[in-house]
Amino acid sequence: MKKRSLSGIKSTGTPHLGNYLGMIRPAIDLQDDFDSFYFVAEYHALTSERDPAAMRASTHMIAANFLAFGLDPARAAFFRQSDVPEVTELAWLLSCVTHMGLLERAHGYKAAKDQGKEKEINHGVFSYPVLMAADILIYDSDVVPIGRDQIQHLEMTRDIAVKLNLAFGENLVKLPEALVREEVAVVPGTDGRKMSKSYNNTISLREDEDSVAKKIRTMPTDPARVRRTDPGTPSICPVWQFHLVYSEEGRKEWVRQGCTSAGIGCLECKQPVIDAVLEEQKPMRERAQMYMDDPTLVRNIISDGCEKARELASETMRDVREAMGLNYG
Ligand code: TRP
Ligand code: SF4
Repeated sequence: MKKRSLSGIKSTGTPHLGNYLGMIRPAIDLQDDFDSFYFVAEYHALTSERDPAAMRASTHMIAANFLAFGLDPARAAFFRQSDVPEVTELAWLLSCVTHMGLLERAHGYKAAKDQGKEKEINHGVFSYPVLMAADILIYDSDVVPIGRDQIQHLEMTRDIAVKLNLAFGENLVKLPEALVREEVAVVPGTDGRKMSKSYNNTISLREDEDSVAKKIRTMPTDPARVRRTDPGTPSICPVWQFHLVYSEEGRKEWVRQGCTSAGIGCLECKQPVIDAVLEEQKPMRERAQMYMDDPTLVRNIISDGCEKARELASETMRDVREAMGLNYG
């Protein structure tokens, strides 16, 4: 029996290169060896999304992107979180074994509190980790491919699972493992900071090639290289992070040599990065467009995925309800 891999992606905004390298590609790579389940986390997006049209559009776009990135519906199930409403039921049951203290430690909630916005955030933000635990536990997941920012949520999922098992039966739910691919290099955003929607420094498939090229061309470099004749230090340059991901050893050597001896200019150094990113994106752009233009095809894929997900979910719910005494009569 194959082990099961599961992950979700929040449906706000276009998946960007950072999401792709950090979570999406590693997750899709698992489809050969794992029984894989991936979904659009619309319920989680609802902690902030207020526009139903944007919600629908985002669901379609994320599905189209996953398919374009190589998710194979014959091997992996792709579905919508809200197609399996049992997950909200499990979230309530888990709430009843989850201490406030645990949730008060969550990074998202703590950040809101530190900014004095504790009273402004909704209950969905506070209980976000419980819903995420339900997402994971309901499918008996073995591994959860995630980006580094989700590690705490996975730890909380395990804590909640332990609490549930202690109260209602050993091995009632399986403790999942986070799968964080430490070796996947992270590329910075186009301003040198972490690539993030909130910093508005992302590179995505939904922008044209000129825009991607321009963003890389205008990226900051080692600030010590004011003039072309100033030598630089790759290790402190965001462009170097791209070379680590996209260049072979020979080209990395060319950058190391050329940069430290002022033998190459920064624009020259960026060109192969631009070419590599665009080349990687080209077939994906074409496929993404194909799926974007065919909502019926995408809906059919999602509905097949949902059927598989729901079957697993209802088995877990049957066991959990029974363990809790919710099966009277
Ligand atoms: N919280 C995740 C994010 O913001 C999305 C998510 C929701 C998720 N449920 C999940 C990820 C379950 C992994 C497993 O990216
Ligand atoms: Fe960065 Fe390349 Fe310029 Fe060196 S040559 S500072 S690595 S962009």
